[in-house]
Amino acid sequence: MLEIKNLNKVYPNGLHALKNVSFNVPQGEFLVVIGLSGSGKSTMLRCVNRLHDVSGGEILFNGVDTTKLKGKALREMRANIGMIFQHFNLIPRKTVLQNVLSGNLSRTGIFKSILGMYTKEDKERAMKYIEIVGLKGKEKNRADALSGGQQQRVAIARALMQNPKILLADEPVASLDPATSHSVMQYLKKVNEELGVTVICNLHFLSLVRQYAHRVVALKGGVLIYEGKPSEINEQWFKTIYGEDAVEVTIN
Ligand SMILES: Nc1ncnc2c1ncn2[C@@H]1O[C@H](COP(=O)(O)OP(=O)(O)O)[C@@H](O)[C@H]1O
Ligand SMILES: [Mg+2]
Repeated sequence: MLEIKNLNKVYPNGLHALKNVSFNVPQGEFLVVIGLSGSGKSTMLRCVNRLHDVSGGEILFNGVDTTKLKGKALREMRANIGMIFQHFNLIPRKTVLQNVLSGNLSRTGIFKSILGMYTKEDKERAMKYIEIVGLKGKEKNRADALSGGQQQRVAIARALMQNPKILLADEPVASLDPATSHSVMQYLKKVNEELGVTVICNLHFLSLVRQYAHRVVALKGGVLIYEGKPSEINEQWFKTIYGEDAVEVTIN
């Protein structure tokens, strides 16, 4: 579904954040990207959904090189790619339902969205996704009245509104406590398994990786240094990825 070939990203200040990164993501996979802070994980996701322009290489989405798309074709491609962030990025004073409905922006259009002109079908879909992320009954609550984990689940439901083929998650549990982290990861897993949405998720903790990832790629200094099953990351690989002094911690 996604083929990343010799991807390079050089920031305007000259920082070479991704160096000839290549890997494939088959449809339906739950892929986790790991690496130290600054290794290039966020940059990679931002290149995939074209929040950043790439400096070289190709990103093929179902065979189409997305790095060259502009205008309408770019917007159409982007509608297939949902994204969730570490800090949720909800509209705090709006309700859960309004936040989820706003995820349909790429299809509703900004004008109708501002006026709150959603169709009955939009509302039914929003309620369906709110139920999928376990928040039924909370649709009228204000987003900022929810716990962090619940807010991230609203963000997942909002991303689902655009019917994404791929969901990109940039350290979605980095602001959450361990128990809540598992809950959010379980809902991501559910979205992956039950709705068939391909997931690419940046994560910090290897213990979560071992529980949720089908496959892992690791970045170090912008270079892809590991690609394989989570179970194949032994102590040697762990030290290569995170440094000699790193110790694996488990979140229960
Ligand atoms: N907008 C930017 N301009 C210049 N350098 C950046 C920018 N964003 C990130 N970087 C740098 O690119 C490298 C990779 O960053 P990032 O992709 O955020 O890593 P990660 O998500 O793995 O922590 C880091 O050295 C970071 O400082
Ligand atoms: Mg990051």
